[in-house]
Amino acid sequence: MKELIENLIKESISTINQDGAIAPELLTKIRVDRTKDRAHGDFATNIAMMLSKPLKKNPREIAQSLIDNLPKDEHISKVEIAGPGFINFFVNKDSIAKALKQMSDDPRLGIAKVANPKTIVVDYSAPNVAKEMAVHHIRSTVIGDAVVRVLEFLGNNVIRANHIGDWGTQFGMLIAYLEKKENEQGAGMDLSDFEAFYREAKECYDSDEEFAVKARHYVVLLQGGDEYCRTMWKKLVNMTMVQNQKLYDRLDVTLSDKDIMGESLYNDMLPVVVQDLLDRGIAVEDQGAIVVYLPQFKNKEGNPLGNIIRKKDGGYLYTTTDIACAKYRAQTLNADRILYFTDSRQQQHLETVWAICRKAGYVADSVSLEHCPFGMMLGKDGKPFKTRSGGTVKLRDVLDEAESRVTTLLEQRNSTLSNEDKKTVIHNIAIGAVKYADLCKNRTTDYIFDWDQMLAFEGNTAPYLQYAYSRIRAIFRKAGDVQLGNIKITNEAEEDLANKLLAFSEAVENVGAKTLPNLLCNYIFELSNLFMHFYEACPILKDDVADDVKQSRLALCDLTAKVLKQGLGLLGINVMEQM
Ligand code: ARG
Repeated sequence: MKELIENLIKESISTINQDGAIAPELLTKIRVDRTKDRAHGDFATNIAMMLSKPLKKNPREIAQSLIDNLPKDEHISKVEIAGPGFINFFVNKDSIAKALKQMSDDPRLGIAKVANPKTIVVDYSAPNVAKEMAVHHIRSTVIGDAVVRVLEFLGNNVIRANHIGDWGTQFGMLIAYLEKKENEQGAGMDLSDFEAFYREAKECYDSDEEFAVKARHYVVLLQGGDEYCRTMWKKLVNMTMVQNQKLYDRLDVTLSDKDIMGESLYNDMLPVVVQDLLDRGIAVEDQGAIVVYLPQFKNKEGNPLGNIIRKKDGGYLYTTTDIACAKYRAQTLNADRILYFTDSRQQQHLETVWAICRKAGYVADSVSLEHCPFGMMLGKDGKPFKTRSGGTVKLRDVLDEAESRVTTLLEQRNSTLSNEDKKTVIHNIAIGAVKYADLCKNRTTDYIFDWDQMLAFEGNTAPYLQYAYSRIRAIFRKAGDVQLGNIKITNEAEEDLANKLLAFSEAVENVGAKTLPNLLCNYIFELSNLFMHFYEACPILKDDVADDVKQSRLALCDLTAKVLKQGLGLLGINVMEQM
């Protein structure tokens, strides 16, 4: 419908633009939007205001001549000028009903695949080896995965890149400590407590000179490709990723082993990249280190800021790895878009990396590099989310607590579910609540982790939306063997619900374009609210409801349930028949 109206407007503009006073570039900016308020019709455009300058006429006058020249169309029942020169379009109720029917019959619920699929590399999750997943990894994992699902559903070729921190000088110490533990406890030890492992390794390194010497030796051996050190290193990586995979599975996150593209993958490319930058004069030697000066980044004194890409001792940095990595993604993976889901504090780092890559021609201008930053997760006290003793909150503990809280909630509700179903319901609500709390806010802001809020059955929460779905399914269980009929819009509650349903594809497309899952959350929340309102205002199964009305309303219920399921599914959240 939106496209149809945009085309009508375009035709009308070309009629009034015979002398070509309107620049072609302005014509590409024609946009029609869904209105927020029924009084303004179903769609509106502000194009008359935008044409006011080139046509040297007042917007209302332009709006009028656009309306006069608008081709007639059976789907449009009325067109009006509003305010300073908005044009409001009213869509025929029959056309709305027809569009709903089409949407309902379409397994993709009206969401088209993109005409030109892109190769999109999505860098997300990226935890570090032998460390507990920190809060920013949780955010990156959950938000990144929702965007991945959406981009993939829209038909793009998505490459998940789990850029794990699996390289660096700390590995000498970790290998030496793993060796020590294995000697004490035998192979096959459980490394589930990374925090303790890392801390103890560090303690040994700081207090035991013999250990420290060995650790430093192992770094050199590892970098030289020594087989024993490689094996020990691989063990550490595997043990970490086995643990993390359990968390991904528990979180219903789509990452798997084959998505791991850690820092170590780029090792062999680092000397080549540094040499190339040196040869081409993009990097210079400065007091033994290799440095890139970028005029666009200046220090306090106004001098170009130097970015070290190889240290005096020959070591490479996080920046060097990311340069090689971006080059690889652009040139080897042939990415059209590269998205980085990292916290906002890595902005400067990424900008530096990208500036170097662009300058060196490693990433062509046609490739879009996008930082999708997110804010911090805060506790209820407004301070960074920490355990009572000030440690990092383990993701595993958060999920355990979510499940135990949901178990208590369900007990209070005297649920009649079987034990097996109950387990699934507890999982879906608990995981859904934790994920949704993160997804529903604009990711760029900090957010406050609040159990009571995220587990509430009212408000913009996963349990509320999951409940809206189950409630619809309950209607169908109660209705028994029923038929879905043609949808007829007979009142405002139905009309509002219908229009919201038709806006589903726009909500999903917006998430793909803006990498903001909260736009889809808002949509689903508003849809659920409109559904609840419709459900209160429009009796469905009562005896005095005529059959055709009943069947039309059931069709609206059915489509709403489908959209809720698909929409929440794209966010990585499960729904259930009963809860
Ligand atoms: N491992 C990093 C961290 O823990 C995140 C990596 C993000 N991706 C990247 N290409 N730098 O903060």
